[in-house]
Amino acid sequence: MNEELQQLEQDFHTAIQSVENNDQLKELESEYLWKKWKLKAILAWVKDLSIEDKKTIGVKANELKNNFIALMNEKSRALEDAYFTDIEKLEEIDVTLSYPSQNTGHKHPISLASELLEDIFISLGFKVEDGPQIEDEEHNFDKLNIPHNHPARDVWDTFWISDDINESKEIWEKHLLRTHTSPVQIRTMMKWELPIKIIVPGRVFRYEQEDARHTSNFYQLEWLVVGKWVTFWDLKWTLDTVMKQLLWEKTQLRFRPSIFPFTEPSAEVDVSCQICDGKGEKAGKKCSMCSGTGWVELLGAGMVHPTVLEGCWINPMEYSGFAFGMGIDRIAAQRFWVSSSRMFYQSKLKLNEQF
Ligand code: FA5
Repeated sequence: MNEELQQLEQDFHTAIQSVENNDQLKELESEYLWKKWKLKAILAWVKDLSIEDKKTIGVKANELKNNFIALMNEKSRALEDAYFTDIEKLEEIDVTLSYPSQNTGHKHPISLASELLEDIFISLGFKVEDGPQIEDEEHNFDKLNIPHNHPARDVWDTFWISDDINESKEIWEKHLLRTHTSPVQIRTMMKWELPIKIIVPGRVFRYEQEDARHTSNFYQLEWLVVGKWVTFWDLKWTLDTVMKQLLWEKTQLRFRPSIFPFTEPSAEVDVSCQICDGKGEKAGKKCSMCSGTGWVELLGAGMVHPTVLEGCWINPMEYSGFAFGMGIDRIAAQRFWVSSSRMFYQSKLKLNEQF
């Protein structure tokens, strides 16, 4: 691994010495920082190493990247100086030329995880749907078989937009910040375009006590399939297929029974924690990502409840379906070894610049 990084460094030094103009410099930047430096390529090398080795290689890789950027900035200044020392050329300044960018920016790790998921699902023939972040009570709860005063509402600590129940209004005119992406299941089923095979990536909100796994603003990915003869076997097959592409080879999955009012039967899926390698502790301390259990809950799932299908005017004797709701922040944390989801929202360049 070290040799590969050293070789990369040597190649870069040789290449930068032969750079004679800005076009070549840009070419070099694209070659080393955007093509060869792809995080995926680095992660592909390190996936089989121990956590400690991963950290060491990660730090080295980051140093190398910063070193490349510093050398390219130096070269850019040298080229500029050479240009301006020729007084003849000063008269030829083209003020419409753009200034070489110092910081081109990059995608946030949650966007990277979201795009990775979308790619996997699109390859399986799913369509991407969207829905409003300000939802009404009917779609967020009632039509998902969670009527007013149902105890399951307590599970989703809700930011209500307005509490004024006007007697003249129907109860479902109350609005809230959606607590999950499941209301888009209802919006899609109400279009009556069957069969359905969709995913819904999106932002959701809960009034949470924040910790390494929980934030008040986070992202979910809903998957919904409705058609004739859709069975629990299809649910399990889809889960296994997606997880194989998403997580590292040695990641273990745990499938356990659960309860959601809008699915029956229901299940939850945990993965062995990547932060502590499923041990529950790291450097002698309890792992905060998995609270010392060695497992992290990733998603809820189940077969769409017949009452939900009926509520969308779909005949449950003819059609069936399965649905999932997965935490994208947790996927990002597990895949990129980030020890707390809260870090995604703290705008820390030290974290974000690694991606
Ligand atoms: C739901 O939100 C259901 N709508 C999921 C579902 C969909 C079940 C379709 C059945 C069918 P839950 O509250 O468990 O379930 O959240 C789903 C996932 O979102 C969790 O497994 C977790 O990965 C993520 N999640 C939940 N709360 C938070 C939070 N506060 N911060 C970050 N991620 C969270």
